[in-house]
Amino acid sequence: MKTIIELKNVKKIYQMGIVQVKALDGISFKINRNEFMSVVGASGSGKSTLLNVMCCLSRPSEGKVLIEGRDIAEMDDNELAVIRGREIGFVFQTFNLIQRLSALENVTLPMWFMGKSEEERVERAKKLLKMVGLEHRMKHRPSELSGGERQRVAIARSLANDPPIIVGDEPTGNLDSKTGKEILNIFKDLYKQGRTVILVTHDASIAKETKKRIYIKDGKIEKTEGCK
Ligand SMILES: Nc1ncnc2c1ncn2[C@@H]1O[C@H](COP(=O)(O)OP(=O)(O)OP(=O)(O)O)[C@@H](O)[C@H]1O
Ligand SMILES: [Mg+2]
Repeated sequence: MKTIIELKNVKKIYQMGIVQVKALDGISFKINRNEFMSVVGASGSGKSTLLNVMCCLSRPSEGKVLIEGRDIAEMDDNELAVIRGREIGFVFQTFNLIQRLSALENVTLPMWFMGKSEEERVERAKKLLKMVGLEHRMKHRPSELSGGERQRVAIARSLANDPPIIVGDEPTGNLDSKTGKEILNIFKDLYKQGRTVILVTHDASIAKETKKRIYIKDGKIEKTEGCK
């Protein structure tokens, strides 16, 4: 199977005055195309830091991050931004939608950044919102949507540029368990369509649905499940 992201002895150290916080302390693993995995751990264990480093939102303090075999240390910030825009779709716990834009406009935005025509943007955004079951809510702003609906908009937005990798940082954390399951089913479908799906969670019932689990504690891998 083709490796898309590889971490080699990654460390992330935050310097807080004279105190050093070792948020990641020597993490190594590979993620292949079309995997469904979760990163599991308690609050403060380093999950979001790990996600940010492996998705090129921040750079490691030590160690290497390779995207499709290329070392991100050799890429400048513009190149990294292009990789993120093309390769990775992000879904966050708090949705991070733009409040003054409608659902449809929120989904079209990443395509605007990629220079797609308006016609193309609107057509694809409608298709994606339909896919997540929101065709009847396209004109609603985030404040006029339920939590689960907002998260569906965020998922539709993450798919705007058709990235092969989708990552979610506690994407069901703010939802009731029934809505959380529905959102999880959307992620499962994305995996079945051939994408790589990476979910960060502290919820064991979400983690057990993924094929591969990486448990982290104090910035280190504590154990893995389903990894070959
Ligand atoms: N920008 C930062 N500056 C300094 N310390 C940070 C920073 N971001 C995170 N940390 C620290 O690094 C550690 C890991 O944080 P991280 O956000 O990765 O945890 P997490 O596992 O995602 O937790 P949660 O489940 O609460 O979201 C924590 O101890 C945190 O206080
Ligand atoms: Mg976090």
